[in-house]
Amino acid sequence: MKVNGVPYRTIWREAPGVIAAIDQRWLPHRFVIERFESVDALAEAIRHMHIRGAIALGAAAAYGMELAAEHARDEELIPVLSRAAALLCTTRPTAVNIRWAVERIQSALAGIQEPHLLRQRLRHAVDELVEGEVERCRRIGEHGAALLEELARSIGIRPLHILTHCNAGWLGCVDYGTALAPIYVAAERGLAVHVWVSETRPRNQGAALTAWELQQQGIPCTVLVDSACGHLLRHQPVDITIVGADRITRRGDVANKIGTYPKALLCHHHGVPFYVAAPLSSVDWSAEDGVRDIPIEERPAEEVHFQLGKLPDGTLASVRITPEGVAAWNPAFDVTPAELITGIITEHGIVAPTALELLRNAEFERVPRGHPQV
Ligand code: MRU
Repeated sequence: MKVNGVPYRTIWREAPGVIAAIDQRWLPHRFVIERFESVDALAEAIRHMHIRGAIALGAAAAYGMELAAEHARDEELIPVLSRAAALLCTTRPTAVNIRWAVERIQSALAGIQEPHLLRQRLRHAVDELVEGEVERCRRIGEHGAALLEELARSIGIRPLHILTHCNAGWLGCVDYGTALAPIYVAAERGLAVHVWVSETRPRNQGAALTAWELQQQGIPCTVLVDSACGHLLRHQPVDITIVGADRITRRGDVANKIGTYPKALLCHHHGVPFYVAAPLSSVDWSAEDGVRDIPIEERPAEEVHFQLGKLPDGTLASVRITPEGVAAWNPAFDVTPAELITGIITEHGIVAPTALELLRNAEFERVPRGHPQV
């Protein structure tokens, strides 16, 4: 997607042994690119939200494995990769894409001992994984756009009003996005759309990131505070809600950014269709009951106590908004049960949550477009 008209991805290989990424902590105020030359630095950046969003996290984990291999001595390569895998998997516990990426890279390397060959195979596996995710997001965009066009035809109003939460756009992926991909494709095809963006306290991924990337692509949007969503659904047009996912269980329960579950309840009450957009890399087939089986990341209390913003002189400042000494609880995700979800927009099409299992064997069987054959 474009930043000031220039195409970017969220994360990319800049040179052998050097990975570059957009440092998302400073958006929308500053556009900063960060470079990583070690898996430790990249893991720290993941932990501290320089790179975030389930699909981008999976790509970052794959690149982290590559960095570990590129900078390891030949005789240490195997233990260094095992340590990198363990390190990356502890960075963000809810987003299953990290584990998925690490396991895919490890299985691509199985049985290879020769260091040069192993590094070469690893780079190919990373490219395949990253290009595959970009292609899966593009397909989610196409399937979701068809849904939006059909909805617009059936209700006969324009623009189509879409509510989203957090950032499941291209910043949370490598390109295109998940929840926002259908909006980008539909808008590109000429559908008039307007997006309601909920701010997503405490880190404000909606207000800071989604609003910024929609603006960059020229999509009209309006930011509202999280607690205004009930009032929004009662008094303003909302035709559909689309959110992303950090982990989906095989029965279709979805963990996503904290505040997603109350939106699903509100949509159910107000009869607004509630969709989740995610590739199958976000499905944890070993998990069934989302509340029981999905680990929910708890992040530092400081994220609740402090807010980052721009002062009138243009400098950025972090200000305290709670009384000194008060306790704060900061769960980063919640679980929306399958029964509140109208459909899951995947790269293979749109399915009811209960039908997700039918896609299990379809997982990743297609070769992504333009993917270099190994
Ligand atoms: O804590 P974050 O910002 O990584 O959480 C991101 C989300 O919850 C997104 O909705 C989800 O990862 C989908 S991103 C394509």
